[in-house]
Amino acid sequence: MSKFQILTAKEIAAARESGKILRGALDLVAGAAREGVTTRELDRLAEEYIRSHGGEPVFKGYHGYPASLCISINDECVHGIPGERTLQSGDVVGLDCGVKYKGICTDACVTVAVGEVTEEEKRLIEVTERALKEAVRQVRPSARVGDLSAKIQETVEGAGFHCIRALTGHGLGSNLHQHPDIHNLGDAGTGPEIPAYTLLAIEPITSIGTGSIREGDDGWTIHTADGSTSAHFEHTVLVVPEGVEVIA
Ligand code: MF3
Ligand code: CO
Repeated sequence: MSKFQILTAKEIAAARESGKILRGALDLVAGAAREGVTTRELDRLAEEYIRSHGGEPVFKGYHGYPASLCISINDECVHGIPGERTLQSGDVVGLDCGVKYKGICTDACVTVAVGEVTEEEKRLIEVTERALKEAVRQVRPSARVGDLSAKIQETVEGAGFHCIRALTGHGLGSNLHQHPDIHNLGDAGTGPEIPAYTLLAIEPITSIGTGSIREGDDGWTIHTADGSTSAHFEHTVLVVPEGVEVIA
């Protein structure tokens, strides 16, 4: 779809439930992301949680993606596939998940540190989360998409880090990815105006090094080109007349 999906009252109720299931799943896997656990085990936990709460893991089967979570470790930015890999002390781990409930999709991500990570990595994680919070504060009807992009860029680059240019947030609703793209770099006052009752996935994806990427051999995983550590936080938000409601 090349225009905004305005949600009905029924769809808004579904979005809230979808988001609740997603947050529950993410809290569960974030708590379980310890040294020694395999990424496949985390994926199983998320899928079980989502299904037992009446949702569907929307990533699974999306363009053939094989899992319920994307788990992206260290230099991996997004779309890391869960498997036999065991988490180690020093890993910076992105846990990205999506839920569909009564036809409405939600999408969210947190990055956690396993054991001891470097001070610079701790700061990258903090700054990326702060960039997301700052962008969410920009959301209200008639704000422009570029207002969010500019705030993310300013927060991340102001701290000496970089946004991954090729990876963006997005609208969502009946589909996981819809209009508009929400770039992580850009200018305030540009881009489409955001209407009330739309759902947006806002997701700064950052790195210590440059903002360039390379594609991995598995056809999914995206790495930083220079091998530096990446972080990723994502909320699904609902635009409401008063401003914004964080859905997941
Ligand atoms: N959260 C991811 C994004 O918005 C979605 C993963 S798509 C999948 O880009 F196919 F990898 F599941
Ligand atoms: Co997303």
